[in-house]
Amino acid sequence: MPAAVRVETSWPVPHIMLRRAAERLMRLAGLSSRELCVTLVDNTRITEINRQWLHRPWPTNVISFPQECGDLLGDIVISADTARKEAAEACMSTDYRLLELLVHGLVHLMGEDHELGDEEARRMRIMEKKLLSALLKEGIMADLCINVDHIATIRQARGGAEPDPVIAAGIAEMAGADGIVVHLREDRRHIQDRDVRILRETVKGRLTLEMAATDEMIGIACEIKPDIVTLVPEKRQELTTEGGLDVKGLEASVTDAVSRLHECDIPVSLFVDPEREQVEAAARTGTDCVEIHTGRYADALTSEAEEKEFEAIAAMAGVAADLGLRVHAGHGLNYRNTSKVAAIAEISEFSIGHAIIAQAAITGLDRAVRDMLRLVKGPCA
Ligand code: PXP
Repeated sequence: MPAAVRVETSWPVPHIMLRRAAERLMRLAGLSSRELCVTLVDNTRITEINRQWLHRPWPTNVISFPQECGDLLGDIVISADTARKEAAEACMSTDYRLLELLVHGLVHLMGEDHELGDEEARRMRIMEKKLLSALLKEGIMADLCINVDHIATIRQARGGAEPDPVIAAGIAEMAGADGIVVHLREDRRHIQDRDVRILRETVKGRLTLEMAATDEMIGIACEIKPDIVTLVPEKRQELTTEGGLDVKGLEASVTDAVSRLHECDIPVSLFVDPEREQVEAAARTGTDCVEIHTGRYADALTSEAEEKEFEAIAAMAGVAADLGLRVHAGHGLNYRNTSKVAAIAEISEFSIGHAIIAQAAITGLDRAVRDMLRLVKGPCA
């Protein structure tokens, strides 16, 4: 991992945000091949460090330690106590002040030093401003798009009208979701054509249509015009999508599907396993984006296997970003395993369905039973 963030303070520091910011800053500064270590400490610890290394026995906000050799660019130590105090004094959020300090520390590691004179201080300020505004322009945190297929699975179990994935999508967006994802399968086992048509009218954020690269589906996509299509492999017998698209093996047909969707002005994402040859083949098809399949990571049975899959996802996210692709990720992510992948800076969007719908069924059950009890036993039940 190019950037590691260590927390050695009891403040609830925004660890994921800082790690994503550090990695993006390294990329923006052309330093993505180097490594960076950021440590968040309290005032007692930064005072000790300031005394020991700079002979200044008082607290400060940030100290940078460049490394002379190896891949490590250096260490940045930030005092969360001082960041909080300075944020309050400047009427800004602590998160924003932490970002400013991270940028300041990084620009020091890049060889700039405001203490050398007015001209050096001016040059450093300009570099910091440029980096910070580029970072904020890109956005730091990933988007979350909710897959509502399994609301439709429950509806189809009775073949009726409820629960309606269109209403579920509205609730998900009102709760803050950045977009809605539906998979229109060839066998229409959950999402129906009607759902996609209505969602196109109602979704306020992004509507992603997952589909196989068939003539029928490309025709539907070109008519409905979702905000993006994710091409996935599809087998009739499977319970859920079982793996990434074999873009390398099917390069010519996938390239054709991508260009037909582009002709309809629809951006395309390819769902791929975290394997270099698949990501590189994806880039050759002209796709805009890849969605990295996180299923093997989610299904790993040991922590070693999970770590190995995680490393593959992180590495391939980097490869895809270097090839100029946007990077999404999804499949099998749940309340236990998501934070770790959410810290991978190159991933700009997560597509999560089953775990959220399963959680909603459990957390909503108490209320649902009480509502029915009132109907069966009266308002005093
Ligand atoms: N991404 C893709 C391409 C998928 O096929 C699915 C499942 O429909 C998901 C993400 C979401 O997976 P899950 O329901 O396990 O969160």
